[in-house]
Amino acid sequence: MAVGMFDSGLGGLTVLTAAQTRLPDVDFVYYSDAGNAPYGVREPDDIHNLTKAGVEALWDAGCGLVVLACNTASAVALRRIQEAGVPKGKRVLGVFVPMIEALTERNWGDNSPPRQVAIQNVALFATPATVASRAFSRELAFRAIGVDVEAQACGGVVDAIEEGDMILAEALVRSHVDALKRKMPKPQAAILGCTHYPLLESTFREALGPDVKVLSQPAIVAESLADYLARHPDLIGSGSPGYRTTGNPRHVSDRAMQFLRRHIAFEAA
Ligand code: DGL
Repeated sequence: MAVGMFDSGLGGLTVLTAAQTRLPDVDFVYYSDAGNAPYGVREPDDIHNLTKAGVEALWDAGCGLVVLACNTASAVALRRIQEAGVPKGKRVLGVFVPMIEALTERNWGDNSPPRQVAIQNVALFATPATVASRAFSRELAFRAIGVDVEAQACGGVVDAIEEGDMILAEALVRSHVDALKRKMPKPQAAILGCTHYPLLESTFREALGPDVKVLSQPAIVAESLADYLARHPDLIGSGSPGYRTTGNPRHVSDRAMQFLRRHIAFEAA
């Protein structure tokens, strides 16, 4: 029983890599819905239906726990899937809340009332669907007061990454950071709220400047997953690890190699 990890495309590999480093004894099955990426420009119903199909495929493959290594799916589809009820022994978690807990200096499950936190001006970079969902502001409001959030919907970035066009992706990041700075000239912190963006973390950091604290999800999520599995050891298991995709396996494997500099062989989902 491996742990399942789901993303619309390659971005979740940034989370998977951090999780594999943090939890070397846990097997993972990665599912990339590259045939339907990007999710960030889709309607909420569409994102829900695609995410649900991917999660069910991972449950059917024997995974007990599935992590949505995709902010768009976590923001738009997770709550609906959980509220509809999940099969016995199965779980699905997102990557959104761990990042907000890190920002608001909270441990998992700390449900105390919202309080003042050190960071008061936050820039959020995410897909158009994540920004439109307002999930970030909603989850933040449960935990912190007085935090000003400026969100920048980064259209085009995921498409460029999935196509392997990093020159375009970097140019788009610079222009999205400029647009954000026109709205919020001095953010204290920036959240890279899409799991594809850590692949461009150095470009974000350079464009934001040295005074902005950049919160990147992979290490945060890996730590929170380790904590979760320590509390739910029944969900840790071994199984056949693997990489599945609804896209073209060869194309997706080549892109994964380009970004991670290690060979990953995707199979058809
Ligand atoms: N990696 C996904 C995320 O974290 C990208 C979504 C997309 O496919 O647009 O939001």
